[in-house]
Amino acid sequence: MKPFVFFGGKGGVGKTTVSCAYAQKCADAGVETLVVSTDPAHSVSDVFDQQFGDAPESVEGIDGLSALEIDPDEEVTAHLDDIRNRLSDQVSASMVNEINKQLEMAHQTPGAYESALFDRFVEVMRNSDPYDRVVFDTAPTGSTLRLLGLPEFLESWVERLMHKRRQSIDLFEKAAVGNNEPRRVMDGDPVLARLQERKEFFEFAGGALREDAAFFLVLNPDQLSVNETERAIADMDDEGLAVRGLVANKLTPSPDDDENGRGARYLRDRVETERERLDHVRESLDAPLLAEIQSRTREVKGDLLTEVANELDVEVGVEEPAFV
Ligand SMILES: Nc1ncnc2c1ncn2[C@@H]1O[C@H](COP(=O)(O)OP(=O)(O)OP(=O)(O)O)[C@@H](O)[C@H]1O
Ligand SMILES: [Mg+2]
Repeated sequence: MKPFVFFGGKGGVGKTTVSCAYAQKCADAGVETLVVSTDPAHSVSDVFDQQFGDAPESVEGIDGLSALEIDPDEEVTAHLDDIRNRLSDQVSASMVNEINKQLEMAHQTPGAYESALFDRFVEVMRNSDPYDRVVFDTAPTGSTLRLLGLPEFLESWVERLMHKRRQSIDLFEKAAVGNNEPRRVMDGDPVLARLQERKEFFEFAGGALREDAAFFLVLNPDQLSVNETERAIADMDDEGLAVRGLVANKLTPSPDDDENGRGARYLRDRVETERERLDHVRESLDAPLLAEIQSRTREVKGDLLTEVANELDVEVGVEEPAFV
């Protein structure tokens, strides 16, 4: 299995639960593991009954497992603060106010959240040295995956911008000092440096995601979830990323054969419908169904988490990283 493992899927299907179960399974097999959660509502903190924050911390009682919780809202704020700081060094005081207004708007922009989260994922992958495996309880969405095409696009764009930037520095220098041979200020140019940095960042992201990451999708046995999964596989495929496998979660348990009350008949009927849906998943979707996890009556934590971990037929051994 690749060093970076992502569990995607729509809201509430069990991404966090399955990620924690898989992370525990890895740690139990002696693989130094970090599980990264991005969901402030129900997250690794709830699953392990321990508060995690923005820096990795060991999970009590499970050797070789650490957890990290990213708050996407804080990420967006930090991201914009960073832009604000970089920009205020470079523009006049009168523009700072205008920039602040624009950034405030950017905060509300659709995609700001995903984009900040994506940056943070990549940051975690870049600093993953202490771990053999990092498990993310969310996969990048279609719109953030499109960023992976960015380096090629930026390549020519950065070149053109560098050219423009060079010209304007030349002009500025000539105007300012009336000198026909402008000083070489390009090297220290912060705008160019920043563009170059972004290009390299996305190059790293593309390499790491294409060569050292495996993507799994968690689904529930309802039609909406199955359709969504089909679409997600296609989205990933568009970006040249294969979905390695599917995990079906929250399956209805079968009643015993001798039970024939109304509840038992309802369950039997449901089990049958779900079976047909999963047959369709097996036959028609472009990724193997690796696990079928039944609904529990309680929150999945503690012993139940260990049970779920045992039902997850997902490899844990670590392949040598190819890119990172
Ligand atoms: N097999 C299961 N049996 C019973 N409850 C489950 C099972 N799997 C998950 N749950 C419960 O369902 C809820 C949602 O699960 P979870 O938080 O893992 O989903 P998620 O996909 O991470 O959600 P979100 O999209 O909000 O991040 C949680 O309360 C969790 O305990
Ligand atoms: Mg979650």
